[in-house]
Amino acid sequence: NDQKRKQLIDGLELLTKFYHYLLTTAKYGSPGMHYLENRGFNAEMIKQFRMGYAINSWDAVTHLLQKRGVNLEQLERVGLIAKRGFDNKYFDRFRNRIIFPIFNMRGQTVAFGGRTLGDDKPKYLNTPESEIFHKGNILYGYHLARQSIRKKSQAVLLEGYVDVIRAHQAGVTCSVASMGTSLTEAQAAALTRMADTIIICYDSDTAGIEASFRAAEMLQGNGKIIKIANMPEGLDPDDYIRKFGGERFKSDVIGASQTLMTFKMAYLRRKRNLSDEGDRLLYIEDVLRELTKLDRAVERDHYLRLLSEEFSISLESLKKQQYQMYTRVQ
Ligand code: UTP
Ligand code: MN
Ligand code: MN
Ligand code: MN
Ligand code: MN
Repeated sequence: NDQKRKQLIDGLELLTKFYHYLLTTAKYGSPGMHYLENRGFNAEMIKQFRMGYAINSWDAVTHLLQKRGVNLEQLERVGLIAKRGFDNKYFDRFRNRIIFPIFNMRGQTVAFGGRTLGDDKPKYLNTPESEIFHKGNILYGYHLARQSIRKKSQAVLLEGYVDVIRAHQAGVTCSVASMGTSLTEAQAAALTRMADTIIICYDSDTAGIEASFRAAEMLQGNGKIIKIANMPEGLDPDDYIRKFGGERFKSDVIGASQTLMTFKMAYLRRKRNLSDEGDRLLYIEDVLRELTKLDRAVERDHYLRLLSEEFSISLESLKKQQYQMYTRVQ
């Protein structure tokens, strides 16, 4: 089993080198290289993240693997190549795609994500879960971010491959990605083990915002500081940095990130019309309901005070109201 695992890891390493070679060799890689240059990724990032390019061929990879005597059946089983039904021939899974090797915590390639150069679906084709790849156990970019996370005791959690690469290029090297919006317990544990402060900066769309709440709730506890960064609607970190630059990302997004509760209050507020008295009461109830989820009394008190000041309601009646709501749901 250990030997099988090693064979697989070796096969993946060979492919990582091959895709990277194709990307960086003009004769093969120019469509991929132009794509990455257009998106503004520099050579250093291409090298660090070992990005690659799968040429538009049905058998380039299969052919190479065959020539190197790699066990094709094994690679098919982990989804790196596929098998045609009608003649049982192996063929390449990735064609005309940018290749993002996905690394385990030790920096070994365990899977690939392949991005289309155009608009076809799926946008990212990922190799499936296998005995060496459990997506939910991996944070993309972790092995490159680890040192910086330790040093600052701070981690920045993003959604996508390109967000991580862009953030690293901008110098925010403590960035990793959950690879989609749903953070798993294993990913959460890896983050809280390493850092006291975790800043969530998911895409600024409905899916991303709602997912940040779930991620923040999962990360909370153990005395960690969990914050959520705010970006203009519709942008993701990669878009933001391209548009406004890395310095503004650091100061206005990461630097201005808010605690979960403050972020939530702003979000709940946007859903109500606070000049309407009925809506105002609903908003206050929304906030009180959220406050019951906080486990630190000092924190609850802090936000109660803010509510009390903003709406000129005594702390006493807010607490009474909250108590009523709380005992009603019990
Ligand atoms: P996004 O749809 O936000 O893509 O998905 P992106 O990272 O911004 O990519 P670009 O900028 O369009 O190139 C976020 C992450 O979700 C996973 C990938 O890990 C992606 O980086 N995802 C998304 C997939 O695995 N498959 C998909 O088809 C889409
Ligand atoms: Mn699994
Ligand atoms: Mn997204
Ligand atoms: Mn995105
Ligand atoms: Mn994007």
